Parts: sequence; structure tokens; C-alpha cells
Amino acid sequence: MRPASPFELANHDVFVITSAHQGREGGQVATWVMPGSLIPDQPRVVAVLSPMNATYELIRDSRRFALSLLADEQLSLLPHFGLTSGRDIDKLDGVAIRRTKSGLAVLEGCCGFAECQVAHALDIGDRVVCVADVVEQEVDPDRRPLRTQQAFERLPAEVVAALGEKLLRDGERDRQLRR
Ligand SMILES: Cc1cc2nc3c(=O)[nH]c(=O)nc-3n(C[C@H](O)[C@H](O)[C@H](O)COP(=O)(O)O)c2cc1C
Repeated sequence: MRPASPFELANHDVFVITSAHQGREGGQVATWVMPGSLIPDQPRVVAVLSPMNATYELIRDSRRFALSLLADEQLSLLPHFGLTSGRDIDKLDGVAIRRTKSGLAVLEGCCGFAECQVAHALDIGDRVVCVADVVEQEVDPDRRPLRTQQAFERLPAEVVAALGEKLLRDGERDRQLRR
């Protein structure tokens, strides 16, 4: 089918963004993540997040999060972290994790992680644009990043359908929040 928008041709990296606050922790998939600074010793990232997500509440309250860049072989973590909510299940239960120096969970076997401290948050209603300073980061150069287009080609058809339905539902929900 012909794409309706040039953004449909984008082939994003897939991050799992984890956070914790007062004994609660969780994580979600995020693809709207990009570098936010060229200053070599002051790295920053920009993440565009839904305030409706359970993970966002942890980020809002702690002002900290960690990004794990999913590796190609971590395909099954995409629906796990992108289709379900931490309000319904403990999403880190049974997932192989390690801890950053400050104790945030990051995914074992990912391509690399960055722990971030929120420096600015722009609330635009349906999304919050978070600009965050990277305070710790690590890379495994031997792993290849998972990309969205290849991920959707490899996921089972019923999972792709469920993700598509959620996308439409969330888009309608977000209409009420837009400023
Ligand atoms: C491929 C994909 C990309 C996504 N990208 C983002 C994103 O960039 N920002 C965001 O807030 N949610 C994004 N989501 C949606 C959340 O991952 C999803 O709503 C999740 O279930 C929220 O979980 P939580 O309630 O436990 O935080 C994405 C989901 C998928 C499947």
C-alpha cells in the first residue's frame, strides 16, 4: 500500500524506556527518541512521550529514565513493552535486566543503554517532549539494532494487527488531549 506520509517510510530504532519511583518500576517501547546535542561531553536526548502511559508517570515523578536500544534478536520484547501497560502487569518480571549505577533497570542483551536526567519537559497535551541529559551510557558494538520495519515484517500477523488497533485507539484518545 502507498504510504500516506513520508514518516511512514521512517525505519526507527526501537528503545525500551525504563523508569522507577518510590519502589515502583516499569518500562515501555519508544521509537520517537533521538540525540539532542552535539556537545561531546554533554550528551542529550529528546524523547516524545505519551503522558497517558504508566511509564511516563514514573518519569514525571522521578525525572529519570534509562533507554535500552533493542538488539535485532530482542524482537519479542517489542510487543511485551509496547502492547501491554504497567498498570496491568509487572512488565519487568521475567525479563533479563541489569542495573545502572543509580539502580535503574536496563535490558540485558541490548545494543547499549543511556541513563538520562530530565532537563526540560514541554507539555503539548497529547505528548510531552522530554529533553534529558545523559548521565551514564554504555554500548555493545557487536549487536545490531532492531528496526521497526523489519520488526513488523517478522512479528506474527495477530501481534501486528493488535499493535495497529492500539495505535488507532491511542490516536483517538489523544485527540481529546491535544493543545
Ligand atoms: C513500535 C512502537 C513505538 C512506540 N513509540 C512510542 C513513543 O515513541 N512514545 C510513547 O510515548 N509511546 C510509544 N509507544 C507506545 C507505548 O510503548 C505503549 O503505549 C505502552 O503500552 C505503554 O506502556 P506503559 O503504560 O506500561 O507505560 C510505542 C509503541 C510501539 C509498539
